[in-house]
Amino acid sequence: MSKHRVSRRQFLSYTLTGVGGFMAAGMLMPMVRFAIDPVLRADEAGDFIPTSQKMADITSEPVRVDFTFKQKDAWYESEVTNTAWVYKDDDGKIVALSPVCKHLGCTVGWNNSEKYPNEFFCPCHNGRYYKSGVNVPNTPPMAPLDVYPYKEVDGYLYLGKAKPKKA
Ligand code: FES
Repeated sequence: MSKHRVSRRQFLSYTLTGVGGFMAAGMLMPMVRFAIDPVLRADEAGDFIPTSQKMADITSEPVRVDFTFKQKDAWYESEVTNTAWVYKDDDGKIVALSPVCKHLGCTVGWNNSEKYPNEFFCPCHNGRYYKSGVNVPNTPPMAPLDVYPYKEVDGYLYLGKAKPKKA
């Protein structure tokens, strides 16, 4: 058995330090959590966003679909509106393309050039894309338009975060 004896003063000191530390931790934890929570929270941009586009109304002709969602940048929340060009391909599969030109980021339109009908056209530097979103060779864009993943919920189109088109 240890002969080390704890004095009454030491016992009180240890006990008060322990209890004080415990209470301080209890008060500080919620503050620390509040301060860093938005930074640690998972990115919500990966979620699918509802659009007003009915799946049944999508045809082989690309239509512009605007959709709005709340974006949280740490503590700052803002409303963002994105656009997709949506149509059905020859296999009946839904295609949702980003309108952001892969040259310098202007907005591409569908069938908006008399010279290049049935293509996506970027008026900034005459960038061209086939209907599939693939860039026309020897025009400024060096890559295909990004593609939105999609899903159907209650008959409506939901879009995810646009990603580079797979080769
Ligand atoms: S930004 Fe589209 S062609 Fe240059």
